[in-house]
Amino acid sequence: MAHKIAVIPGDGIGPEIVAEACKVLDAAAAKFGFELEYTKLLMGGASIDVNGVPLTDETIAQAKASEAVLMGSIGGDANTSSWYKLEPQLRPEAGLLKIRKALNLFANLRPAYLYEELKAACPLRDEIIGEGFDMMIMRELTGGLYFGARETSIENGIRKAVDTLVYNEEEIRRIAVKGFEIARKRRGKVCSVDKANVLDSSRLWRAVVEEVAKDYPDVELSHMLVDNCAMQLVRDPAQFDVILTENMFGDILSDEASMVTGSIGMLSSASLNETKFGLYEPSHGSAPDIAEKGIANPIATILSAAMMLRYSLDLDEAANAIEAAVRQVLKEGYRTGDIMSEGCTRVGTVQMGDLIAARV
Ligand code: IPM
Ligand code: MG
Repeated sequence: MAHKIAVIPGDGIGPEIVAEACKVLDAAAAKFGFELEYTKLLMGGASIDVNGVPLTDETIAQAKASEAVLMGSIGGDANTSSWYKLEPQLRPEAGLLKIRKALNLFANLRPAYLYEELKAACPLRDEIIGEGFDMMIMRELTGGLYFGARETSIENGIRKAVDTLVYNEEEIRRIAVKGFEIARKRRGKVCSVDKANVLDSSRLWRAVVEEVAKDYPDVELSHMLVDNCAMQLVRDPAQFDVILTENMFGDILSDEASMVTGSIGMLSSASLNETKFGLYEPSHGSAPDIAEKGIANPIATILSAAMMLRYSLDLDEAANAIEAAVRQVLKEGYRTGDIMSEGCTRVGTVQMGDLIAARV
């Protein structure tokens, strides 16, 4: 029976990179003997243009009825796009937050990995890079500042805005459990990142993570304050295996971690709930400036599709084959513009997809 996959191409470069990911998935399906059935869904600006809102309830229902969601990227240029003249809750990003919450995707996995072949793109000095690094940012995705009460008001003629950072112990426990489980399959280290020297929510975070750690004596737990972590990521990124952190810190640190790999166009992500269901998307944005030029790097989306096969469909062999095909293409010297270096062959989005699909 065919696996039902919801596909959200989205905005900007989204449709181009998703098309290449589907191409590679189809190659894997043909080789490993499984079937995928795609249902295209609208979200973000693409949905605003058609439905007036960034995400409809019907779309949520269709996403829920699938085994996994593969997404491109959403959003446009905030300075020029008419989407950003709308109320905040009607803008493209609101659709993304809404689907995360509606599907209960509390665990966001963002691997940041330095490809041997792409060392030249890493902005860090050679002695810092050393043997390279390979970390997994586990970001809590449905709580904290993103989903607490917010309000803008005027008090005595003075404008005021409030955002609330709330976590309960259950929200912390479930992401911590995921963090330790993933660490077990990696190098067995969790670094929990918080701001426990200032915030109550961080003190609770730390206490609950300590409790969960008791069930994982084989995993080494450390704690780090978020400001220090931001610094350590560029001082010695190899020290990290799994970084476990709350929503806002994870948003910021994952951008930083992706930059130190030198190639944000390479980084995939998975957002999971308590079941096998997940939403898979590249870690980068919709890059409206290069949309429809055929030059975007589709690899992050292709690698997200591989994560989808592994985590939601249990098709590990096919996932491994896609990852190996990506490496092979890099080894052969093919590069999109964002990761181009001397002596390599520059290719466009479609050609990169073709090359990878052919090597699956
Ligand atoms: C991300 C993005 C989103 C976030 C935005 C687009 C709302 O930056 O996925 O990291 O802040 O979560
Ligand atoms: Mg972000």
